[in-house]
Amino acid sequence: MKRLSLALCVISLLSASTAWGQAFPPNEMGVTMGHWHLNTRDVAANKKIFLAMGAAEVTGGNFQAVRFPGVLINLQLAPGTPPPTGGTVGSIVNHVGFTVQNVQESVARWKAAGVPVLPGTNGRKDQAFVVTPDELRIEILEDKNQKFPIQHHHVHFNVPESVIPQIQAWYAKTFGAKPGTRGQNQAADLPGVNLTFSKADGPAVTTRGRILDHIGFDVQNLEAFCKKLEAAGIKLDRPLTRNPQTGGALLPTMSCWVQMLRPAARLQAHRHTGSAVYYVVEGTGETMELFTIGDSNFQSTTVFRDALRASESREHALLDLRQ
Ligand SMILES: [Fe+2]
Ligand SMILES: [Fe+2]
Repeated sequence: MKRLSLALCVISLLSASTAWGQAFPPNEMGVTMGHWHLNTRDVAANKKIFLAMGAAEVTGGNFQAVRFPGVLINLQLAPGTPPPTGGTVGSIVNHVGFTVQNVQESVARWKAAGVPVLPGTNGRKDQAFVVTPDELRIEILEDKNQKFPIQHHHVHFNVPESVIPQIQAWYAKTFGAKPGTRGQNQAADLPGVNLTFSKADGPAVTTRGRILDHIGFDVQNLEAFCKKLEAAGIKLDRPLTRNPQTGGALLPTMSCWVQMLRPAARLQAHRHTGSAVYYVVEGTGETMELFTIGDSNFQSTTVFRDALRASESREHALLDLRQ
């Protein structure tokens, strides 16, 4: 496989009933910032960092979690998920951000509590960065007038420059985000979050499987929202499902990304908690799946050639590993 282009991060949606908590009131499309979904190696160590930064502990949900004003942070994915494949830097979401009332005061307090803090760029005193052991990068900015000591502020995307207008328009159309600018950057605002779009220096790859696996939005009426998404031609990862424990609606949207691979590259084996389909956009590639049905293991190999050209062909072989 070769050839790349754009990687999209994954978004999941939760109905409002699950977690309004300290979320900001939704916009006219019923949307507000929901959660960061982390795939931490050490839940306790990460929880300690966030609690020291001013988070409240959340109990009773499906995941171990903490909450800041404007965002819930789920600290783990489903049981059995492999460890993160990388930090935020290098993925389509370079970092996320909080604002505090006074950066230097917060930094002094956090350092004393063992939070890994780095200074602002070029000696800026109104900026700092927290980088967790799993390399979740969090920018800290200052807003002296905000009501809370710390609150959610932004999700900072790094994407190819040419697609910034499309991404900005997509969030506006899909979630009612208000297009605008933040500093030098194009941006879009939703309650509780500024989505900031900067030009990527290198290829952008999906967030899926990394420390920040995806971000989530809360919506007021998920069923109606899903119908509207589907009517707009947005394919859903799976139909609207209910959380068996809470009865709340749960729905990750479908994601799609393309990645350029070096010739003869072999990727690491990985496990999915949802369904995944691989396809070669240009060139030739081979995928191998191992799966289990009952007590039997199967190996499936698919070879793709030049999917975008007339010569497209696919060969598929299924091997029963029972013998
Ligand atoms: Fe999630
Ligand atoms: Fe930022």
